[in-house]
Order: sequence, then C-alpha cells, then structure tokens
Amino acid sequence: MKITVVGAGAVGASCAEYIAIKNFASEVVLLDIKENFAEGKAMDLMQTSSLNYFDTKIIGSTNDYSKTENSNIAIITSGIPRKPGMTREELIGINAGIVNNVVSQLLKYSPEVILVIVSNPMDTMTYLVNKQFNLEKNKVIGMGGILDSARFKYRIAEALKCPISDVDGMVIGGHSDTGMIPLIGKATRNGISIDTLLTNSIKEKIVHETKIGGATLTSMLGTSAWYAPGAAVSSLVHSIACDQRKMFTCSVYLNGEYNLDDICIGVPVIIGSNGVHEIIKLDLSENETEDLKTSARSVKSTNLLLDSIDLK
Ligand code: LAC
Repeated sequence: MKITVVGAGAVGASCAEYIAIKNFASEVVLLDIKENFAEGKAMDLMQTSSLNYFDTKIIGSTNDYSKTENSNIAIITSGIPRKPGMTREELIGINAGIVNNVVSQLLKYSPEVILVIVSNPMDTMTYLVNKQFNLEKNKVIGMGGILDSARFKYRIAEALKCPISDVDGMVIGGHSDTGMIPLIGKATRNGISIDTLLTNSIKEKIVHETKIGGATLTSMLGTSAWYAPGAAVSSLVHSIACDQRKMFTCSVYLNGEYNLDDICIGVPVIIGSNGVHEIIKLDLSENETEDLKTSARSVKSTNLLLDSIDLK
C-alpha cells in the first residue's frame, strides 16, 4: 500500500505521522513545493520509527511527482490554511488553482488513485476535483465530517464528564462554521440518547462549540489545527487500506441522495478498498432536513465562485 501526502505543512506531516504509526502502509511519499522541506520532515519522521515501532517507509519529495507513481491513495492538504478571523470559504481563490494542479500531476503517475481532499474550502475542493477530472465518484472523498464528528464527541464527553469511548455521534453537512450539522438528537452514550442526559442549554452549547471547533483552534494557534485533522485522515485511509468498511461522515458527490444533486457535502458513508462503498441514508427529522438544505445552499453558492476562477 503506497500513500502520497501532498503538502508537508503541519496537517500533511501529521497525516504522514499518524499513518506511519498505525503501521498499515508500506510507503508514504510526502511531497511539497518548498525545496527540501518534505525530505526534512520525512527524515525526521523516519528517525522516530525505531522509537514508535513502525516499518512504513517515509520518503520526501520536492515537487517530483514521479516519486508518487502507483500510489493507491493520495491525500491533498496543499494550499494556504486559514488565519484567525478568516472563514474556510475565503481560501478558495488561491486553493482552487493549487488543488487543480496537484490532482492533474498526481493522476499522470497514478491514474487509479483514490483521492482524499483536505484543502479548504473542502466541500468545494472535492466538487472541483469531481468536475475537472471526471473520476469515478467513489474515488474522491472529502475529509471534514470525520474531524467535525471527532470534535463533536469531544464536546459531548466533556459535558457528560465521561470517557470519549462511551460516546457516539456524527456531524453531517458542509465543513464550515455555519454549514455543519451536529446531529445532537442522534448522539448517544452507550446507546442511551444524550437527549435525556443533558439540558437544552448544554446541548446548544455543544452544537455551537462543535461548529466553531476549527475557528476556535485557529484563533488559539494562529493557523488551522493539525493533530485532529491528521488523525481523522489516518482513520479514513486505514479503512480504505484495510477494507475495514467503517462508517464515517465524508464529503461525497451526491446524485439525488438526500434530495441533493450535483454537490459534494458531508453524509455518512461506508469506506472500504474502493473508497466510498456505500452512501448511508439517514432518517432525518424535519429540522435536520431543513438544516441540510440550508447547508447545501451555502456550499453551492461557494461552488459557484469556481466559475470566476482561472484554474491555470
Ligand atoms: C479544521 C480545518 C482542517 O477544521 O478545516 O481544523
């Protein structure tokens, strides 16, 4: 199993690190445009291998895509991260061209690759890749919902003062501060609805803090987060690499599912060796359905901005 990570910044390096530590891949290629940067990160990570007990070989490359040849999975983290006060949507002008270029380079050397999109605005970047390259829909997966769901579970466990392993919950919708839909009514602790365990005001607080989860960290760190995004990517990639068929919320191309068309947005899917194995149909309440419609409208309005961007 060969995995490429494009972008050796904090998120890309964290993806490479978590993938290596889980020890399911034979090779990880870390690629960046900055001279020697990916090589340096790869060497530093390789020097942890005897300490962290992994055999995955990590190789760095300065923009040489021939090194990515025959990758099974490629993760795209390239582009600029947001700064405090910025929305993910504001990054579109710069990141659309970068993502477009990265994917065309990757496909030259690995036409069958499964693509995992992390660059923001993530739902629109996933849509762009679908539209530009006419790939099989199961092979383009946007990573956002897994991260948002992890943040949601963290907030629920914090409120319940319980271990996170007791908690289950998911976030659907767009990966944006306003578009995320934490499904609070479906969250559970060991199968018991949290509806009965928490007051309304605490539940509202959990939803709010989940939605601004990325923005909160950006304001604390001065740039966007990397540990949870890297861990989320590695869980997704692990499920592809080992055909685990785990269920995650991912941004995938919808063609009528959830009454949505021609859009990539977060819904629960089964992830296996072919990428998206199945899109799961959730029974949504009236409010949840309305929220998903609103979120989809906002993702579509960001997608429209692609028309005015010169991708070359
Ligand atoms: C975040 C970025 C990765 O939510 O979108 O932290």
